[in-house]
Amino acid sequence: MDLEALAPPGSVLVALADHGQPLDLPPGETQLVAGSVEKRRRDFALGRTCARAALARLGHDSWVLGRAPSGAPLWPDGIVGSITHTKAFAAAMAAPADRFRAIGIDAECSGGVDDRLGRRLFTDGERAWLSGQGDALRPALATLLFSAKEAYFKAFHPLEGRMPDFRQVEVEVVPGTGVFSVRQPDARDGWAAPVPGRFVIGDGLVVTALCLEA
Ligand SMILES: CC(C)(COP(=O)(O)OP(=O)(O)OC[C@H]1O[C@@H](n2cnc3c(N)ncnc32)[C@H](O)[C@@H]1OP(=O)(O)O)[C@@H](O)C(=O)NCCC(=O)NCCS
Repeated sequence: MDLEALAPPGSVLVALADHGQPLDLPPGETQLVAGSVEKRRRDFALGRTCARAALARLGHDSWVLGRAPSGAPLWPDGIVGSITHTKAFAAAMAAPADRFRAIGIDAECSGGVDDRLGRRLFTDGERAWLSGQGDALRPALATLLFSAKEAYFKAFHPLEGRMPDFRQVEVEVVPGTGVFSVRQPDARDGWAAPVPGRFVIGDGLVVTALCLEA
């Protein structure tokens, strides 16, 4: 899976497959999940390991990534970024804040969004688009729509706080390009300008990323 396609110039993306390798986190990060179950601690450590590697490539070697009350990771001043983890996979993307205003990255196991869940997550337009896709592609494309909304949330929530719900945000996929766009209602009952993102599908995963230009 070519994840580099997700990272525009100026950003850094680091991904990690979980092979049970030892992971070394500073105490300030370990303590954030001290009371959590083993799986949560492992996922957290995988994500933070990716984030720390991305930060090192941006010149921040020893930053301890805290956590905001919202759950968002706390990046050093002048850096924006995002973390994701799913089964045996984690990734983080980061960039200088003078290059990008916000970043959202999300990974999902392909096929986890069935019709019942889709009714809660997707607009009528998205469901019509999905039903026009072939049976073989539909599970991955439904996961892609969901993942794009999660990446959008991760980028915008730290900027804006309150967010619209899943069925108010609409994703449009440009087939065959690895590109999607997300739009949400504006204050005048219209649509705000769509925000572009990129996606990769492979190895049983769907990974999406949005980088908002500064
Ligand atoms: C927070 C949320 C986006 C996480 O996504 P997920 O697919 O469950 O899990 P992922 O592994 O991909 O991402 C988890 C990481 O997201 C990051 N995160 C959590 N809350 C966040 C927030 N408010 N803003 C930005 N990033 C956040 C954290 O780094 C977290 O990992 P960590 O706790 O180990 O550091 C999701 O649980 C959620 O609340 N979704 C609701 C979003 C929503 O309402 N969307 C409406 C459509 S826009």
